[in-house]
Amino acid sequence: MLKGKHILLGITGSIAAYKAAILIRLLVKEGAEVKIIMTPMAKEFITPLTLATLAKNPILVDFFNPENGDWNSHVDLGLWADAYLIAPATANTIGKMANGIADNLLLTSYLSARCPVFVALAMDLDMYLHPANQNNLNILRSYGNHIIEPTAGELASGLIGKGRMEEPKAIADYLCNYFQNNSFLAGKKVLLTVGPTYEKIDSVRFIGNYSSGKMGYALAEELAQQGADVLLISGPTAIKMMHPNIQLCRIESAEEMYRQAVKAFPEADVAIMCAAVADFTPENVSDKKIKRGSEDLIIKLKPTKDIAVELGKLKSPRQVLIGFALETDNEEFNALKKLQAKNLDFIVLNSLNDEGAGFGTDTNKISIIDKHDKKTVFALKPKNEIAKDIVYYLITMLSKK
Ligand code: C5P
Repeated sequence: MLKGKHILLGITGSIAAYKAAILIRLLVKEGAEVKIIMTPMAKEFITPLTLATLAKNPILVDFFNPENGDWNSHVDLGLWADAYLIAPATANTIGKMANGIADNLLLTSYLSARCPVFVALAMDLDMYLHPANQNNLNILRSYGNHIIEPTAGELASGLIGKGRMEEPKAIADYLCNYFQNNSFLAGKKVLLTVGPTYEKIDSVRFIGNYSSGKMGYALAEELAQQGADVLLISGPTAIKMMHPNIQLCRIESAEEMYRQAVKAFPEADVAIMCAAVADFTPENVSDKKIKRGSEDLIIKLKPTKDIAVELGKLKSPRQVLIGFALETDNEEFNALKKLQAKNLDFIVLNSLNDEGAGFGTDTNKISIIDKHDKKTVFALKPKNEIAKDIVYYLITMLSKK
């Protein structure tokens, strides 16, 4: 259930820190990648070496590495994480979290994290019950943090009562349940075409386009994050990222992309045509490099097959087909024409007239137009956030289907 999830684990100075070793093993076994931040006190309870070995990632404690000055960016950690789990969380750390105190890396990362936060409590029973601690917990709840309550039993102090950190298995199950309930596309198969195509002229030359594949790969990542099984049919790109839910099928030409897409479509619940497919391809390909001469070189091009049109014909009522349109003029009119001609459920329109939108950029500005001519406009955003908007739009549509 945690396949491909990025879990940031914060460990504070409690005797329950020894349970973190088992917790890490369970999270890794579930498929998560785990990065660990310890408070300086936590190191007194369990060695970083043990935890780093289990997590297969170095342990972070300080704001920077004193040996080489490398900065441990809490902002990057906060953005990397799909979940931030603080286990064990002491009353001291909880008090600081509730009040925005940021005097160690665990706390600065807490303030930077955009992901859900889970707090597994560990403390003595009177500390747990103290109104100051209870008030702090209520503040964390009001921030939307998930509190994993301690269990009752014998405590390290010898007292008996509520304060023992929940068992690692129960904490790992808590996270698994959370992701299961929030994986809106679990069990859905999504076919996604991305990137440019290369149309061969001879053994060393091709006709291509400026598509970087960034938008398509961001979409693939977001779909996978939401639990979908993604078949990524990708033209040549330099992007290297692979969520375990993504199956990569590399192709070069429009014809290869067409064949793979048509083959996979019957199995798909959703198909997203994000690729910048060449509209024309050389009629004849030379198997040797064409030599320069004094004559003009004339290459006759023939039209490629339109993948979206073909899938639109094959589409059954249970399937959803989404297209993209990159327009320079009469944007909305042209996008709507494509939506109808290709039998799409919705089309994502980007205009080359918008600054920061289109090929190669890290940002994009889109509108979505649906079958009923309803238009939703989105602001200029990084492509990974645009991907979230598109996937959220798709999830909402599927929930009404
Ligand atoms: O007609 P136009 O190429 O502008 O349409 C864009 C949409 O059609 C995109 O979703 C693109 O991926 C898809 N398309 C396709 N096969 C083609 C050409 C475009 O799937 N040969």
